[in-house]
Amino acid sequence: MSFLCTKFGIIALVSFMFFCSLFSTKASASAASLKVGFYKGSCPSAETIVRKAVNKAVSRNPGIAAGLIRMYFHDCFVRGCDASVLLKSTPGNLAEMDHPANNPSLRGFEVIDEAKAQIEALCPGTVSCADILAFAARDSTYKTGGIYYAIPAGRRDGRVSISDEVTQNLPSPSSNAEQNSQRFARKGMSVDEMVTLSGAHSIGVSHCSSFSNRLYSFNATHAQDPSLDPNYAAFLKTKCPPPPTAGAGRDPTTVALDMVTPNRLDNNYYSELRRRRGLLTSDQTLMDSSLTSRMVLNNKRDGALWAKKFAKAMVHLGSLDVLTGAQGEIRRICCVAN
Ligand code: HEM
Ligand SMILES: *[C@@H]1O[C@H](CO)[C@@H](O)[C@H](O)[C@H]1NC(C)=O
Repeated sequence: MSFLCTKFGIIALVSFMFFCSLFSTKASASAASLKVGFYKGSCPSAETIVRKAVNKAVSRNPGIAAGLIRMYFHDCFVRGCDASVLLKSTPGNLAEMDHPANNPSLRGFEVIDEAKAQIEALCPGTVSCADILAFAARDSTYKTGGIYYAIPAGRRDGRVSISDEVTQNLPSPSSNAEQNSQRFARKGMSVDEMVTLSGAHSIGVSHCSSFSNRLYSFNATHAQDPSLDPNYAAFLKTKCPPPPTAGAGRDPTTVALDMVTPNRLDNNYYSELRRRRGLLTSDQTLMDSSLTSRMVLNNKRDGALWAKKFAKAMVHLGSLDVLTGAQGEIRRICCVAN
């Protein structure tokens, strides 16, 4: 039963077949761009269903909010916000989901599957997985940060997911601010948006493999990254053993991206950068690069403005290379193309 993502997939499939026998409706194929309240007429409870699924999961495990916000970013930066990150690998094709940047660290898939199953039971073939993920990221932002924004919808689901495209499009944790700003520029996103959205690293965790080079093998002259606060580095070394012992990135140990408020989406992340406690090279170089340091300090100083910019940048992120109108499809089950 490779088409089932989880047990919720069974519910989705059964309800889909049931409703197909009653109606033969098809989603409208005329929308040219995204709009707020897209499902008001066709599936009025869609956004409520997602919100309840997110709130339930995040109340049990706050890390799921981090997982869903990151999943949205990884979806939108690779082939646009088309839910390509949710598609399973098939024989002969390694999907985005199985790229090392996503597997095993990406989390929260079961929340999307549960919301999708409930929505399919009510309005079959109507609400895309890409929109469900965008709603879930929005609701995760609100739940962990109290930051609310309306998110335009009307995205359609893609049919293609290729692992290699992750390598080509996502920024790297070992790259610096200049290098990563080029990855954002290629998506039409500004340096300030990159700095603002990096504030998402105010919640969630990282595996040792994403930063342990900074502790043990930084460069020819420094074993340890001199931009790291030495006390913080000493703490990290107690968590993450030197790479040979860690077994080439298979170490399941994780460390909070923001030690001080790990479950609160706030601008404390920028204060940590100021204290030289950015966990990833991509984090710390935001403070150390002249391209971005002023932006870091502004976000540190004005949390309300940062939150406003964060909301706006999340909406922009959700508009990247979207499929709309008659493009793509409305997937029945989020882990497999129809
Ligand atoms: C600027 C370039 C970025 C780089 C290089 C980067 C890289 C990373 C890495 C390596 C991790 C840890 C993965 C692991 O080892 O488990 C991570 C976690 C995370 N990232 Fe980013 N990221 C970037 C931007 C973003 C953006 C724009 C967002 C969302 C708006 C985001 C949201 C998150 C979240 C929430 C986590 C924690 C995930 C969890 O706890 O499950 N990141 N990121
Ligand atoms: C190693 O890193 C330090 C600090 O970033 C830098 O000053 C130095 O030039 C680097 N050395 C080499 C050999 O790259």
